[in-house]
Amino acid sequence: MGGALARGWAEAVKLGGGLTLHVLEPSFDPALGEALEAAGAVLNPEAPQPTDVLVFAVKPNQFTAAAQSAQPFLGPETLVVSVMAGVTLHGLGRVLNTTRLVRAMPNTPGQIGQGVTAYVAGAGVSEEDLLLAEQLLAPLGPVERMDIERQMDVVTAVSGSGPAYVFLLAEALAAAAELEGLPKDVAERLARQTVAGAGALMLQTGQTPGALRKAVTSPGGTTQAALDVLTGMDGLGPLVRRAIIAAAERSRTLGRDGH
Ligand SMILES: NC(=O)c1ccc[n+]([C@@H]2O[C@H](COP(=O)([O-])OP(=O)(O)OC[C@H]3O[C@@H](n4cnc5c(N)ncnc54)[C@H](OP(=O)(O)O)[C@@H]3O)[C@@H](O)[C@H]2O)c1
Repeated sequence: MGGALARGWAEAVKLGGGLTLHVLEPSFDPALGEALEAAGAVLNPEAPQPTDVLVFAVKPNQFTAAAQSAQPFLGPETLVVSVMAGVTLHGLGRVLNTTRLVRAMPNTPGQIGQGVTAYVAGAGVSEEDLLLAEQLLAPLGPVERMDIERQMDVVTAVSGSGPAYVFLLAEALAAAAELEGLPKDVAERLARQTVAGAGALMLQTGQTPGALRKAVTSPGGTTQAALDVLTGMDGLGPLVRRAIIAAAERSRTLGRDGH
């Protein structure tokens, strides 16, 4: 996730975005390291100074160690942005001793600029900080501001973890196609392109998923036969609801347990 952000910032630096990028990382992916150096980024600086913005994109259990190594980057004017799942504003503030914080939740399509990020701001951020944080998160895709930190558990369940549900749908489609007699490789290609194409159509037309669904569903036709199953009493709606409740509850527990 940090790599996806850094790649986007490297592009912004090349376009003359006025950014100087310092990247702290124990083991650089060589391609990313080269791309960052080509954009004038400083990799693992030897004499770090406080920066305008400090971004944490490590696993939550690496946060305390990363916070120690990042301490020299943190000054009284530094805005902290975290993309760590489950680490609350309170947890960030306790370790870093600041309220100038933005807690964000991106998702993996952000690697290709097709993600979505929601964030919540700490008590110490200014309107200028918010604008800056949104600009910094923009390479990953659109950005949404949440007013209440509790909403981040639902965000985590829906968009943070959501790409996995869509991949599961592609897997389930392919598995069903194979069981109904299609060769495995053909089943996988049909399922993959169907999920990707439907997603792209939704984005490019700007139509609601409901409108697009109705447009391909003739009464009494084949799509209708499948939708009658999928929208039944124990169909996709209640199943997804249960999945989101479980994921949001897990996010709450992670937040309570240590952060
Ligand atoms: N992946 C997702 O879908 C997703 C979505 C939303 C939010 N997030 C959040 O994004 C964060 C990163 O997730 P990820 O999947 O990108 O994890 P990741 O692939 O493990 O990336 C973490 C990176 O940080 C490096 N690192 C570890 N300790 C460090 C330290 N002390 N100082 C500097 N760098 C250090 C790691 O290096 P090593 O590999 O050498 O340890 C690794 O390259 C997590 O908090 C996750 O909750 C992820």
